[in-house]
Amino acid sequence: MLSSCWRQFPVTFAARRFTAAAASADRVALIQGSSRGLGLEYAKQLLSRPGHRVIGTCRDPGSAHELQKLQDSSKGRLSIVRLDVTDEQTIQAAAEEVSKQHGHLDLLINVTGILHIPGKISPETALSRITPEALDVVFKTNAFGPILTAKAFAPLLEKAESCSGASNERPAVVANMSARVGSLADNRLGGWYSYRSSKTALNQLTKCMCLEFARKHRKIAGILLHPGTVDTGLSEPFQKNVKPEKLFTRERAVQQLLGIIDSTTMKDNGRYIAWDGQDIPW
Ligand SMILES: NC(=O)c1ccc[n+]([C@@H]2O[C@H](COP(=O)([O-])OP(=O)(O)OC[C@H]3O[C@@H](n4cnc5c(N)ncnc54)[C@H](OP(=O)(O)O)[C@@H]3O)[C@@H](O)[C@H]2O)c1
Repeated sequence: MLSSCWRQFPVTFAARRFTAAAASADRVALIQGSSRGLGLEYAKQLLSRPGHRVIGTCRDPGSAHELQKLQDSSKGRLSIVRLDVTDEQTIQAAAEEVSKQHGHLDLLINVTGILHIPGKISPETALSRITPEALDVVFKTNAFGPILTAKAFAPLLEKAESCSGASNERPAVVANMSARVGSLADNRLGGWYSYRSSKTALNQLTKCMCLEFARKHRKIAGILLHPGTVDTGLSEPFQKNVKPEKLFTRERAVQQLLGIIDSTTMKDNGRYIAWDGQDIPW
């Protein structure tokens, strides 16, 4: 474990091993789903911090032009890796690639999520509109994908403890992008059957992961995040009833969420948190 870190960063490892300040300089973050929307913004903001290395994944690097532009200006601190959350082989291959590149991981943000696919899927407003095809792709993308990604990257997150000094106060973090509509307690409107219930499933899968991290005394905290309503391609067709002050820019939303991620300790493991830091009822 230590030797893989040494191979990656032979010059500085001994000096930074025991200091928190040096540990922060070594943070390696993977943004799963960073071609556009909130994922691209996470990559931008993390790269604006000195010392961060970022891996941005997407299912088609060749068409992720904004991410490529970011890579060109990143001075080698952003690498792009192919990962389609609906294909576990690509998830495993991405984990092997990151293991070779960095040897460990400090932060995994699972951003990918779908609400609609133009011309194919729209959120169901009535029981009669549910189709097995939509349920299948939405659950695979929003619920199964993030947990399979966490499974593949957990061994690298475990190495953060010895590589960059992860501790109870500053653990490695898995942040899964959920949504308030995944809350059973908060569901007063119904509708959006596939999307809502896929996020509910993501919440339950993540909760199980967090309980396991705690039981095994891992220095890894899992959290579920609701970003608010954010001006992205996902929300664009559904923004007409959103008051302007309730529609966040991507910049503001990610700033708020990174604030939560930055302050995460093991005490937060298993929380379902809104953009303002408040707990969401399950
Ligand atoms: N925007 C909001 O108001 C809002 C509110 C609550 C929760 N959220 C959650 O926040 C997260 C980000 O949403 P967003 O608004 O940024 O959405 P977005 O702009 O539509 O971006 C979605 C991202 O998911 C990627 N993706 C879709 N299917 C994929 C697959 N099979 N494999 C890998 N990547 C895939 C897309 O990549 P391609 O470019 O390849 O399609 C894109 O990068 C989602 O989990 C969403 O549910 C958003």
